[in-house]
Amino acid sequence: MSIFVCKVCGHVEFGSAPDTCPVCHVPKENFQQKDNIFSEALEKSPEGGAKHAPVVTIKKECKLLEDEACTDVHVKVGKITHPMEDAHSIVFIDCYIDDKYVARISLRPGVYAAGCFHTKPGGKKLRVVEFCNLHGYWQTETDF
Ligand SMILES: [Fe+2]
Repeated sequence: MSIFVCKVCGHVEFGSAPDTCPVCHVPKENFQQKDNIFSEALEKSPEGGAKHAPVVTIKKECKLLEDEACTDVHVKVGKITHPMEDAHSIVFIDCYIDDKYVARISLRPGVYAAGCFHTKPGGKKLRVVEFCNLHGYWQTETDF
Protein backbone atom coordinates (compact mmCIF):
# COMPACT_ATOMS: atom_id res chain seq x y z
CA MET A 1 0.00 0.00 0.00
CA SER A 2 1.24 3.52 -0.80
CA ILE A 3 2.39 5.60 2.16
CA PHE A 4 2.32 9.40 2.30
CA VAL A 5 4.07 11.42 5.02
CA CYS A 6 3.31 15.02 6.04
CA LYS A 7 6.52 17.06 5.87
CA VAL A 8 5.25 19.38 8.62
CA CYS A 9 4.04 17.09 11.42
CA GLY A 10 5.16 13.61 10.33
CA HIS A 11 1.64 12.24 10.05
CA VAL A 12 1.35 9.09 7.89
CA GLU A 13 -1.54 8.38 5.52
CA PHE A 14 -2.14 5.01 3.83
CA GLY A 15 -3.42 4.65 0.27
CA SER A 16 -3.47 8.30 -0.86
CA ALA A 17 -2.57 11.77 0.39
CA PRO A 18 -5.49 13.63 2.05
CA ASP A 19 -6.67 17.07 0.87
CA THR A 20 -5.47 18.49 4.17
CA CYS A 21 -3.42 16.92 6.93
CA PRO A 22 -5.82 15.69 9.65
CA VAL A 23 -3.20 16.48 12.31
CA CYS A 24 -1.68 19.86 11.39
CA HIS A 25 -4.12 20.93 8.64
CA VAL A 26 -1.59 21.86 5.94
CA PRO A 27 -2.66 21.23 2.30
CA LYS A 28 -1.95 18.09 0.25
CA GLU A 29 1.21 19.51 -1.38
CA ASN A 30 3.00 18.94 1.92
CA PHE A 31 2.67 15.17 1.66
CA GLN A 32 5.53 13.14 0.18
CA GLN A 33 5.17 9.55 -0.96
CA LYS A 34 7.50 7.40 1.14
CA ASP A 35 6.43 3.78 0.82
CA ASN A 36 9.44 2.39 2.70
CA ILE A 37 9.43 4.25 6.02
CA PHE A 38 8.91 1.08 8.07
CA SER A 39 11.39 -1.12 6.23
CA GLU A 40 14.00 1.69 6.30
CA ALA A 41 13.69 2.03 10.10
CA LEU A 42 14.12 -1.73 10.48
CA GLU A 43 17.13 -1.76 8.13
CA LYS A 44 18.82 1.05 10.08
CA SER A 45 18.10 -0.59 13.45
CA PRO A 46 17.70 -4.35 12.93
CA GLU A 47 17.60 -4.83 16.73
CA GLY A 48 15.22 -1.88 17.18
CA GLY A 49 11.95 -3.76 17.16
CA ALA A 50 12.09 -4.67 20.84
CA LYS A 51 12.20 -1.00 21.85
CA HIS A 52 10.03 0.43 19.06
CA ALA A 53 7.33 -1.89 17.74
CA PRO A 54 4.08 -0.84 19.44
CA VAL A 55 2.76 -3.48 21.84
CA VAL A 56 -1.03 -3.35 21.55
CA THR A 57 -3.49 -4.74 24.09
CA ILE A 58 -7.19 -4.61 23.26
CA LYS A 59 -9.62 -4.39 26.16
CA LYS A 60 -13.28 -4.73 25.33
CA GLU A 61 -14.34 -3.39 28.71
CA CYS A 62 -13.59 0.26 29.21
CA LYS A 63 -13.14 1.38 32.79
CA LEU A 64 -13.51 5.06 31.88
CA LEU A 65 -16.56 5.16 29.56
CA GLU A 66 -18.70 2.59 31.34
CA ASP A 67 -21.90 3.55 29.48
CA GLU A 68 -20.40 3.26 25.99
CA ALA A 69 -19.49 0.27 23.80
CA CYS A 70 -15.90 1.45 23.93
CA THR A 71 -12.96 -0.75 23.02
CA ASP A 72 -9.78 0.34 24.74
CA VAL A 73 -6.60 0.12 22.70
CA HIS A 74 -3.67 0.23 25.09
CA VAL A 75 -0.32 0.94 23.45
CA LYS A 76 3.12 0.60 24.96
CA VAL A 77 6.04 1.49 22.71
CA GLY A 78 8.39 -1.45 22.77
CA LYS A 79 8.39 -4.78 24.56
CA ILE A 80 11.29 -3.11 26.38
CA THR A 81 9.72 0.28 27.11
CA HIS A 82 11.28 2.97 24.95
CA PRO A 83 13.14 5.79 26.76
CA MET A 84 11.59 9.26 26.99
CA GLU A 85 14.55 11.64 27.20
CA ASP A 86 15.18 15.03 25.59
CA ALA A 87 17.63 13.58 23.08
CA HIS A 88 15.76 10.35 22.37
CA SER A 89 12.03 9.90 22.69
CA ILE A 90 8.77 8.87 21.08
CA VAL A 91 7.12 11.91 19.49
CA PHE A 92 3.66 10.50 18.79
CA ILE A 93 1.51 7.40 18.57
CA ASP A 94 -1.13 7.41 15.79
CA CYS A 95 -4.13 5.08 15.63
CA TYR A 96 -5.85 3.86 12.43
CA ILE A 97 -9.03 1.85 12.08
CA ASP A 98 -9.41 0.05 8.75
CA ASP A 99 -6.47 2.17 7.49
CA LYS A 100 -8.27 5.43 8.28
CA TYR A 101 -6.53 7.73 10.75
CA VAL A 102 -8.57 8.31 13.91
CA ALA A 103 -6.39 9.89 16.59
CA ARG A 104 -2.93 10.86 17.78
CA ILE A 105 -1.31 10.82 21.19
CA SER A 106 1.50 13.40 21.33
CA LEU A 107 4.24 12.60 23.80
CA ARG A 108 6.98 14.52 25.62
CA PRO A 109 9.76 13.32 27.94
CA GLY A 110 7.58 14.01 31.01
CA VAL A 111 5.44 10.92 30.31
CA TYR A 112 6.06 7.27 29.45
CA ALA A 113 6.04 5.94 25.88
CA ALA A 114 2.48 4.66 26.22
CA GLY A 115 -1.13 5.66 25.79
CA CYS A 116 -4.74 4.57 25.34
CA PHE A 117 -7.26 5.14 22.53
CA HIS A 118 -10.95 4.81 23.42
CA THR A 119 -12.29 3.53 20.10
CA LYS A 120 -15.87 3.36 18.88
CA PRO A 121 -17.32 0.03 17.67
CA GLY A 122 -17.37 -1.09 14.05
CA GLY A 123 -13.72 -1.40 13.02
CA LYS A 124 -12.13 -4.63 11.83
CA LYS A 125 -8.45 -3.81 11.47
CA LEU A 126 -6.34 -1.80 13.86
CA ARG A 127 -3.01 -0.20 12.96
CA VAL A 128 -0.80 1.68 15.42
CA VAL A 129 2.12 3.79 14.19
CA GLU A 130 4.74 5.43 16.37
CA PHE A 131 7.54 7.83 15.54
CA CYS A 132 10.88 7.92 17.39
CA ASN A 133 12.94 11.08 16.91
CA LEU A 134 16.07 8.97 16.32
CA HIS A 135 14.81 5.69 14.91
CA GLY A 136 11.89 6.64 12.71
CA TYR A 137 8.57 4.92 12.06
CA TRP A 138 7.40 1.58 13.51
CA GLN A 139 4.00 -0.03 13.34
CA THR A 140 1.84 -2.89 14.55
CA GLU A 141 -1.26 -4.24 12.81
CA THR A 142 -3.88 -6.46 14.40
CA ASP A 143 -7.52 -7.48 14.13
CA PHE A 144 -10.04 -6.08 16.56
FE1 LIG B 1 14.32 5.07 19.55
